[in-house]
Amino acid sequence: MRLQGKVAVVTGGAQGIGRAIALGLGREGAKIVVADLQADKAKNVVDELQALGTEGHPAEVNVANESSVKRLANVTFDRFGRVDILVNDAGVYLKSLVVEMSEELWDRTIDINLGGNFLCSRAFIPSMRKQKSGRIISIASGIAHYGAKEFAPYAASKAAIIGFVKALAREVGADGITVNAICPGAANTAMPRTHRTEEELMARLRSNPLGHVLEPEDFVGPILFLASDAASYITGQAINVNCGSYMI
Ligand SMILES: NC(=O)c1ccc[n+]([C@@H]2O[C@H](COP(=O)([O-])OP(=O)(O)OC[C@H]3O[C@@H](n4cnc5c(N)ncnc54)[C@H](O)[C@@H]3O)[C@@H](O)[C@H]2O)c1
Repeated sequence: MRLQGKVAVVTGGAQGIGRAIALGLGREGAKIVVADLQADKAKNVVDELQALGTEGHPAEVNVANESSVKRLANVTFDRFGRVDILVNDAGVYLKSLVVEMSEELWDRTIDINLGGNFLCSRAFIPSMRKQKSGRIISIASGIAHYGAKEFAPYAASKAAIIGFVKALAREVGADGITVNAICPGAANTAMPRTHRTEEELMARLRSNPLGHVLEPEDFVGPILFLASDAASYITGQAINVNCGSYMI
């Protein structure tokens, strides 16, 4: 129960990696706001949190929308009175060649993946600042480093998250707030399934030095570490959790 008394907001918490993170933080005693576009699924995760013996609150949010994020902040403070940990996990993975890409696809990806990090961080920093402590953890991607054909806005948004994290870490360090990114390698969730056959996906997921298929739960340990006192002096970093599939 390393996080007893802490409150965490997990965007994209309704499924996949975000759900695993919400449950992982909850298992350590944190109270969780499960924030997602998918309100019904967020409610299911809150039910799972309650079964684990902790409190949760489902919040319907569009992280790309300023007023929606303001409502998320209000709901969080009304329900739990504080926030200690913000996990910016919500994201989309939209496919198109650059020359065929609509501005809508570009804007949507950047607004959700990058803009969501900005809006949510801005909404929660003032209260972290007042309490002189906080953890912001953004879920970037290995694609930030190695790119991916037909996923330029995704790669750009994830690389930009790393820049954002570094700049923000410098802005809020004096307030006791750390800001870091996790860069997952390809993982076994719904997201990559939208663009690959099952066979292609599983071959890709297995092709790493550890021969391990990354599951959403595999990101919980690194998140708990970054959220804990053990990581008090780590800020502005992008940590690869990828079974060694690429090394930088
Ligand atoms: N799965 C992978 O292989 C992989 C690899 C690297 C990075 N990531 C990153 O990890 C994060 C989680 O990915 P996942 O695989 O669990 O994906 P997922 O599609 O299973 O889950 C994403 C969640 O984000 C929510 N979401 C999307 N747009 C939103 C919005 N505008 N506002 C609020 N919520 C929104 C969705 O409803 C969904 O619950 C994403 O940021 C993704 O880019 C995933």
